[in-house]
Amino acid sequence: MKFCKMMLFTFLLHSCQLGVGSSVLSVLADFFSSSYEMLRCPLYDCCNDYWIPNNITKLQLMIEEEVFGQHIATKIISRQIIAHLENPSPSKPLVMSFHGWTGNGKNHVAYLIAKSLYRSETKSRFYHHFMATVHFPHQEHAQLYQDQVRSWVKGNVTLCPHSLFVFDEVDKMPTGVLDGIRAYLDYIDTVDSVDYRRSIFIFLSNTGGKEITKKVHDIWLTGNVKREELTVSDFERLVELGAFNEDGGLQNSHLIEKSLIDVYVPFLPMEKLHVRLCAENEFKKQNHVPKNKEAALQKIVDGLNYYPEDKELYSTTGCKRVAQRVSLYIADERRSQRKKGRKEL
Ligand SMILES: *[C@@H]1O[C@H](CO)[C@@H](O)[C@H](O)[C@H]1NC(C)=O
Ligand SMILES: *[C@@H]1O[C@H](CO)[C@@H](O)[C@H](O)[C@H]1NC(C)=O
Repeated sequence: MKFCKMMLFTFLLHSCQLGVGSSVLSVLADFFSSSYEMLRCPLYDCCNDYWIPNNITKLQLMIEEEVFGQHIATKIISRQIIAHLENPSPSKPLVMSFHGWTGNGKNHVAYLIAKSLYRSETKSRFYHHFMATVHFPHQEHAQLYQDQVRSWVKGNVTLCPHSLFVFDEVDKMPTGVLDGIRAYLDYIDTVDSVDYRRSIFIFLSNTGGKEITKKVHDIWLTGNVKREELTVSDFERLVELGAFNEDGGLQNSHLIEKSLIDVYVPFLPMEKLHVRLCAENEFKKQNHVPKNKEAALQKIVDGLNYYPEDKELYSTTGCKRVAQRVSLYIADERRSQRKKGRKEL
């Protein structure tokens, strides 16, 4: 043992004297760390094509099956993601901002993107989800959060350029926090020798939801245009008017000023027929066929609140409460079946 240590010491001494110490050592270190990576990669998340398949087919399939009433959003998002992933050298990271009422599918689409990019889906080390009320709750700590976000994003992109960052509840984020990452979103090759251009950033907020709903409703009132015929250009004016950044994290933000956000995506209010599709999908996901499917779906749809009050057109919570109501319905149905079973005995 002592001999070994001495050998090592002599070896190091000699290497230093020869002036090759640091390079030999760094080669050795590289060798060990890369073999370590190679050993663990078959088992754990690594930053390679196997663990990051970027499966567009899967994304499109899942969107088709699980996202309802969002023809504008789903089209723009698929297009942007495909273009970004297929570009061998993107000039900046992809930055998208999703807008609309809660429950309209913003979070769900972000989640599906993570599921299709990474083999470990949302458990991937390269998927980062920040919630304003959890990660950045206090306005007075905005400066601290700004430094934190900057160092997290930098650290994680250094580990893997194919990272996905989702910032949820941006409207509740202290003003200025996102300015911490402004430089990373820009058309810059590298910032401090880190290349951010392969990463994807998504901002989610309820901001603009009211205006989007009003727009959809106004068009519905005129009766000439079908919802499915609306296009993103129908909502562009809302962005120009600043309706999408009334309060919170993006307000007065340099991100907006420098137009670093590639695309603003409107999520439309959900009508009863969309809620119904959500409920149907949820029964399927929970592996239950209700005895009377029609009555079951109707009950779930009728259990939610709608806007405007007199016409009851759009679900005020989108599909947010649907999963929980379906679970309740299933539990009730099973309980009453058990009761009936006991009576018959
Ligand atoms: C992509 O997803 C599709 C559909 O889920 C699946 O059939 C296919 O095997 C996946 N491809 C890769 C490379 O993971
Ligand atoms: C990566 O991000 C997480 C937050 O999602 C953070 O806790 C972690 O410290 C970051 N890693 C690095 C290396 O910066």
